[in-house]
Amino acid sequence: MQSTRYNGVIWMRQCVLHARRTYSVSANVTSAGNNTTGEHLPPTTPTKSLEKMRGWQLHSYGDIDELLLSDKLKIPQIRSSNECLVRVRTTAVNPIDLAMLRGYGATVLNKLRCQPGDDIEFPLTLGREFCGELVQKGMGVTSHSLKLGARVWGVVPVHASPGAHAEYVAVPSYCLAPAPKQLDDSEAASVLYAGLTAWSGLYISGGLGGPCGATTAAGGGAHKRILVLGGSGGVGTLAIQILKSQGAQVLATCSENAVEMVRCLGADFVVDYKSSDAMDELCKFAPYDIVLDCAGHGGAHASELKFDFRQYITFSSPLLANIDQQGLGLGAIKNMVDLVQTNVKSLTQRGGMVKWGFFNPAPHGIAFLEQLVRQRKLIPLIDSTFSFEEMLKAFERMKCGHLRGKIVVKL
Ligand SMILES: NC(=O)c1ccc[n+]([C@@H]2O[C@H](COP(=O)([O-])OP(=O)(O)OC[C@H]3O[C@@H](n4cnc5c(N)ncnc54)[C@H](OP(=O)(O)O)[C@@H]3O)[C@@H](O)[C@H]2O)c1
Repeated sequence: MQSTRYNGVIWMRQCVLHARRTYSVSANVTSAGNNTTGEHLPPTTPTKSLEKMRGWQLHSYGDIDELLLSDKLKIPQIRSSNECLVRVRTTAVNPIDLAMLRGYGATVLNKLRCQPGDDIEFPLTLGREFCGELVQKGMGVTSHSLKLGARVWGVVPVHASPGAHAEYVAVPSYCLAPAPKQLDDSEAASVLYAGLTAWSGLYISGGLGGPCGATTAAGGGAHKRILVLGGSGGVGTLAIQILKSQGAQVLATCSENAVEMVRCLGADFVVDYKSSDAMDELCKFAPYDIVLDCAGHGGAHASELKFDFRQYITFSSPLLANIDQQGLGLGAIKNMVDLVQTNVKSLTQRGGMVKWGFFNPAPHGIAFLEQLVRQRKLIPLIDSTFSFEEMLKAFERMKCGHLRGKIVVKL
């Protein structure tokens, strides 16, 4: 069963590869250029804080043309002893990048981002994930696996800026790990943001593996029945593979032209969401332990479903948007009201709870995904690849939607 699925995934990955569109420093750190351990390291590391880097910035919220490429950005400094500096080789564009470009979440994220007394919002550099080379680390980074010169993959917390759409990025060491050798640089830049979203939705919000699943890399979910809405996108393709690796029964929805691809990922039953007859078939398998919304429906959709479930977990919560519109106080109240209202409706009509799922840069989540990659139970799908200079095209691709996996940008 596993090998059939694996062969299917290999076949599918070859199809996707074939179809892939390649359009066209500070104190308290150990740096690669000043290595005390005697490791052989590449000469391309920043040794002076005066050195500049290239990166994409926005100076005001708006559309894609707000993004500007500069070659005069300061290389980020490691600000605390647990931070690391990475030279980025590949990064990705996610829906959150497009949303943040338009100002999504600005009220809360700026509060978290800005230091007390320093409320300068711009310029912002987007980009939540990357694969690259570790070039500096704070003295508090003691992990033996994080060696200078190591090839690493990592994520940038949502409130942190500058992000990974630049030649260098500084992140806390818990957001980093050695990149699995089973993945090339493009693949390694495409797993963690969507993967940690899927993992956190299932194991933290959904409690799929019990307390162990939420607090360790143990996973879990054997024999549970899960419906993934939006199985063809960045989060959906990884959620399906995670669930199958844990022995869950997985059903999925997607557009007709993605049905075969989603089946090859291992989903047991796949339906075209535009066909109401096909969607009705999903009633035969109810109740579901979890309905995972990776299609951007939101919580209100739960009570519109025709079948019962125990939990409906959506990654499209109104949390930040409510606060953007109403301010911190009223927005927080509106969030409570929204959650209670959707839950009352969902519990009375479908018998299940509505929960919100969020990306969570948890180290045990990274360890869980790494383990699946090493076991070849998780294979990332890449929708399209762009060069760094083509970042605007990468955002245009995101804006067009209908993604089949992830958008990768190579430096
Ligand atoms: N809360 C968080 O921390 C967090 C983190 C990551 C992502 N998200 C959200 O989670 C959602 C998924 O993210 P993603 O990166 O996977 O986005 P994505 O790559 O754009 O994938 C969305 C997928 O859903 C499909 N789709 C659209 N409408 C559908 C429907 N009615 N039924 C079934 N499938 C449908 C799309 O393909 P077709 O249009 O061709 O059908 C596409 O393949 C997005 O809304 C994103 O904003 C939230």
